[in-house]
Amino acid sequence: MSSVAADSHVHRAFHFYQESLGKKVVMAATGVVLFGYLVAHLLGNMQVYLGAEQMDNYAAFLHSMPALLWGVRALLLISIVGHIVSSIQLARLKSAARPVSYVKKEAIASSYASRTMMWSGPIIAFFVIFHILDLTTGAAGAAQFQDLRAYENLVYSFRRVPVAAFYIVAMVLLCMHLYHGLWSMFQSMGVSHPRYTPIIKRAAAWVAILMAVGFISIPISVLTGLVGANL
Ligand code: HEM
Repeated sequence: MSSVAADSHVHRAFHFYQESLGKKVVMAATGVVLFGYLVAHLLGNMQVYLGAEQMDNYAAFLHSMPALLWGVRALLLISIVGHIVSSIQLARLKSAARPVSYVKKEAIASSYASRTMMWSGPIIAFFVIFHILDLTTGAAGAAQFQDLRAYENLVYSFRRVPVAAFYIVAMVLLCMHLYHGLWSMFQSMGVSHPRYTPIIKRAAAWVAILMAVGFISIPISVLTGLVGANL
């Protein structure tokens, strides 16, 4: 390799690092917000196992604080847009820097979860739109949809087998997305060490699996009659 070519590769690598860092910070910060929402949402949803009254009261409680509700919605929307825009910009930067050797190595070593990031993301985004139309507005909900009847709405929705199946597939993709997103966030923050990286990866896998199992348990419980048998 000539020194001019090597110089240009070094320059490109440096440029890539500088430009990508800010975008990775945006990815991580918005990812943390979205993850925090998911944890809270999962804990809220677990009330489905405490019965219709508890779940519907919880939904009514959340809707009784419009300032908080709309504040969270605005934060979520900003985070989703920031997450998507910075992911597209990072992908563009990566492909522009492709001749640089360490980027090549990263691609070779990439896991199944990391290769799926760019298509699991859009499917999850599509899922969220469908999900809001299904359980928040009722536009894609079951015929029996009623405002603020969270328990009844989700039971009638998940009794539609293709809908329940779509939720389950989306949650599996979400699990892979979370796994890769969580541990690569630590990588971006510079926490990369032969001793700690495997521990972080294992912890990320457990968190992602637990969350997916929690979410997936709901459509399965509806389909098996464990939830909503009295409706
Ligand atoms: C089986 C899994 C899930 C169930 C049973 C569930 C249940 C619900 C319900 C009942 C609502 C409506 C709440 C209301 O309007 O009172 C809702 C809203 C929402 N869910 Fe889920 N959810 C699940 C998974 C997810 C996942 C995986 C995500 C994100 C990737 C998500 C994101 C949202 C969002 C953004 C809203 C709108 C919140 C709002 O109206 O402010 N949900 N969910």
